[in-house]
Amino acid sequence: MTTDTQTRPSLLPDAHVDAARYDQMYAASIADPDAFWGEQGKRIDWIKPYTKVKNTSFGPGDVHIKWYEDGTLNVAANCIDRHLATRGDQTAIIFEPDEPTDPAQHITYNQLAENVGRFANVLKELGVRKGDRVVIYLPMIPEAAYAMLACARIGAVHSIVFAGFSPDALAARMNGCEAKLVITSDGAPRGGRVTELKDNVNKAMLHVTHDAKCLVVKRTGQQVAWVQDRDVWYDDIAARVSSDCPPEEMNAEDPLFILYTSGSTGQPKGVVHTTGGYLVYASLTHQMTFDYKDGDIFWCTADVGWVTGHSYIVYGPLANGAITLMFEGVPTYPDAGRFWAVCEKHKVNQFYTAPTAIRALMGKGPDYVNKYDLSSLKLLGSVGEPINPEAWNWYNTHVGKGRCPIVDTWWQTETGGHMMTPLPGAHELKPGAAQKPFFGVKPLVLEPTSGEVIEGNGVEGVLVLADSWPGQMRTVWGDHDRFVKTYFSDYKGYYFSGDGCRRDADGDYWITGRVDDVINVSGHRMGTAEVESALVAHEAVSEAAVVGYPHPIKGQGIYCYVTLMADETPTDELKKKLSDWVREEIGPIAKPDVIQWAPGLPKTRSGKIMRRILRKIAENDFGSLGDTSTLADPSVVDELIANRAKQ
Ligand code: WTA
Repeated sequence: MTTDTQTRPSLLPDAHVDAARYDQMYAASIADPDAFWGEQGKRIDWIKPYTKVKNTSFGPGDVHIKWYEDGTLNVAANCIDRHLATRGDQTAIIFEPDEPTDPAQHITYNQLAENVGRFANVLKELGVRKGDRVVIYLPMIPEAAYAMLACARIGAVHSIVFAGFSPDALAARMNGCEAKLVITSDGAPRGGRVTELKDNVNKAMLHVTHDAKCLVVKRTGQQVAWVQDRDVWYDDIAARVSSDCPPEEMNAEDPLFILYTSGSTGQPKGVVHTTGGYLVYASLTHQMTFDYKDGDIFWCTADVGWVTGHSYIVYGPLANGAITLMFEGVPTYPDAGRFWAVCEKHKVNQFYTAPTAIRALMGKGPDYVNKYDLSSLKLLGSVGEPINPEAWNWYNTHVGKGRCPIVDTWWQTETGGHMMTPLPGAHELKPGAAQKPFFGVKPLVLEPTSGEVIEGNGVEGVLVLADSWPGQMRTVWGDHDRFVKTYFSDYKGYYFSGDGCRRDADGDYWITGRVDDVINVSGHRMGTAEVESALVAHEAVSEAAVVGYPHPIKGQGIYCYVTLMADETPTDELKKKLSDWVREEIGPIAKPDVIQWAPGLPKTRSGKIMRRILRKIAENDFGSLGDTSTLADPSVVDELIANRAKQ
């Protein structure tokens, strides 16, 4: 514990859920999921009400997940239309632009209705129909939310690609879901600099293997290269279409969006979320975890390119008629006080961010926080990776002033919403623990090799979920077998999270991190295989192995072992070239932190790279390399250790 700890925040009074209610609701959700979720489903509006609630199987054999399967609804109508009678003039979205001197926007629900209706008609003009896929590659501007909701309104399936991804990554995702349209902007201001988004799309389009159009929103007004008949300005069509667009009636199990995420092997997979269950789950978790009350100003700092932005900037808050803040910039521009300046300026009540941001700001010292009035804050949240005690204490002391409960929410792109978290009116906090399962969530700890369920407390193993919840992903886009293989094959009959976990003596859960070849860099998920394939795509590289290693700010850094082609000379200049290459291939978030030349890689006789050993070497931990006798050539390890010292 550091000396930062002042007081532990007390439970929130008058919360939606107190300890007794949590126990009662949790027990009910497990005892009779049909009854529990049948009731919760009523929190959203249905066009045709469901008569069936849960129809799910985790196998073995058939794996299928369906919720509310005979109900129909429209997500945009739930996020907009149903609020108009009671809160049409209330702010829906507060937009805070990159430049603090540019004016913020307050977009009311009435204005949101108009903007989304018009955007939906623009999509229709471009020939987008129910079921078509639309890729969104936009900065954090209100149009990103309009575009998502416009797709939902007409039944098109959106797939957002984070604006920090490279043209190649964008092309791969557009090809993956055969997107008919990509929505982008001329440029994306971020941290005082501009990313040439349209330019990236132009490059990506060279690798898109089918016909696709490009809709361009004006953000910066800069010059952009244009391809006639393919590229269209949003404003040109918007000027001539109406803002009235009736919502399409969608089945609960129609896809709402695809979001590509990294796994332990191969290409990113298209996680598919559907309409009814997802919305019920996003809205319920948003209300309960953050104890959201009418009129509160809620700020989730994620980008809409990640699932956190989908569920907790757009769908959850808007389904609840909330006021949600969208921030275009970065925490350190113009200085490390920006988050807190925005909290003060907009009187934010709930603030939700990632440990990596907290660690980065912690490093700049508390003066940046202390000069702002943060008295509006009631609750803080954390997501993306385990939060270390130092960061937790700093967050609690300097941001929450010891008053604001911190909800540490464990979940995944695949889960659609929070799976484990303390609830702020129910659970005394333990720094670093995700603590309690959300309603309907049945976590189990398994012995990793045998797959046996480990009962009791004070135990550790891999984390699986024993039953479905409405926000669960339904399939991998175009590849249901991959879905079954990835999540339901290692431990039969369970959903395997890919995370390890500990259940402490009190029965509280602590996530210990990924147990597969996925690393978590600044809260972004990355498959080591993706970085490896980018490296070996370079002509100088013969082989590469990538592992994560502890990094003081990013959580994990990217450590690359690279074997060069025989005629290449290992130089610092080449290291820089390779590093830039990966950045170009995937995007800035994948830029290697360390490249170590590896004359050979530790492999078993069957040719499998022993990553366990590479992780230890990257961590500078040579004492516990384990058994190296099964290696084809054990001397490789000594050489790598000798080279490690030079990094
Ligand atoms: C990790 C982000 C510990 C975990 C919503 C998970 C966490 C992966 C936490 C999913 C947390 C997320 N504590 N670890 N509170 N939240 N993780 O798909 O390893 O980008 O499997 O979803 O992040 O990352 P994803």
